[in-house]
Amino acid sequence: MKMTTPNTYQHLQGKDFLNLTDLTPSDLSLLLELAHDLKKKQKSGELYTPLKGKTLAMIFDKPSTRTRISFEVGIIQLGGAALHLQRDDLQLGRGESVEDTAHVLSRYVDGILIRTFHHELVESLAQAATIPVINGLTDLVHPCQILADFLTIQEKKGDLAGLKLAYLGDGNNVVHSLMHGAAMTGMELTICTPQGYEPLAQIWEEIGELAEQTGAEIQLVHDPYIAVQGADVLYTDVWASMGQEEEKQKRQKDFEGFQVTPTLMALAKEDAIFMHCLPAYRGLEVATEVIDGSQSVVFQQAENRLHAQKALLVALLGKYR
Ligand code: CP
Ligand code: NVA
Repeated sequence: MKMTTPNTYQHLQGKDFLNLTDLTPSDLSLLLELAHDLKKKQKSGELYTPLKGKTLAMIFDKPSTRTRISFEVGIIQLGGAALHLQRDDLQLGRGESVEDTAHVLSRYVDGILIRTFHHELVESLAQAATIPVINGLTDLVHPCQILADFLTIQEKKGDLAGLKLAYLGDGNNVVHSLMHGAAMTGMELTICTPQGYEPLAQIWEEIGELAEQTGAEIQLVHDPYIAVQGADVLYTDVWASMGQEEEKQKRQKDFEGFQVTPTLMALAKEDAIFMHCLPAYRGLEVATEVIDGSQSVVFQQAENRLHAQKALLVALLGKYR
């Protein structure tokens, strides 16, 4: 493993993180190295507080357990502080513009984390803010999740390049970011959705050139039995994302046959791991025996949100002299 020093990621200072592709492939691997390093430090009880005096404002338009808590605990461990803000706590909820909110927050805090519906709102916030803006999930993408996922895959499987990941389920925000990540790291990603639930064309366009450069192979199929053959990693997510609650019944019908079952797990490699960004619904997208079984790494994956995002915070918010 290469040595990382603060100078190694100094060029990321002050940047936004709205999409995984805001990083170059080499920045992504640097951040993952830093995350491994910070995890080791924390496990050994070593204090590391490069963000002393820094504050992160966290705006949530949707619920969150992992993102909220891991960012809040993460910045506290790094010596800083976080403010948890629901939209209705802010004048933003009463119609103050996102630009004015960005200008004002930029004068108080050192970074903004936002989870909301429309990706464009996060883009407008980032454009107006003079401090880093981090995307904590939009309807389009969930880039912080993939940092933790890749950290977990590296821990379990080593190098990402060439690994086979099969994703079963909805072509949603998580899979969009997985596509970015696979393209950046040279993975083999097979996405398997029911007809009508495919990832957006926009994302396929975004990854084309990257995948060519890294040798990534990313394909779409509709048959779960084909998708999981020989996979190193099986990944799924909820069938109805936040904001799609009214479609729940219809989706349960449309996604029949897409549950990750022990039978599907058995078609993957013998040492395959099962991943889920959580929250999970046992008996819908995943069978209880799989998510609670020996191949499941979902809680290690959830823990790694903390370590991966600490690396992100250090890189974007840190100051090195
Ligand atoms: N995976 C994830 O983002 O979880 P939360 O919705 O709990 O933040
Ligand atoms: N696709 C899910 C991810 C939750 C972390 C959602 O958007 O609700």
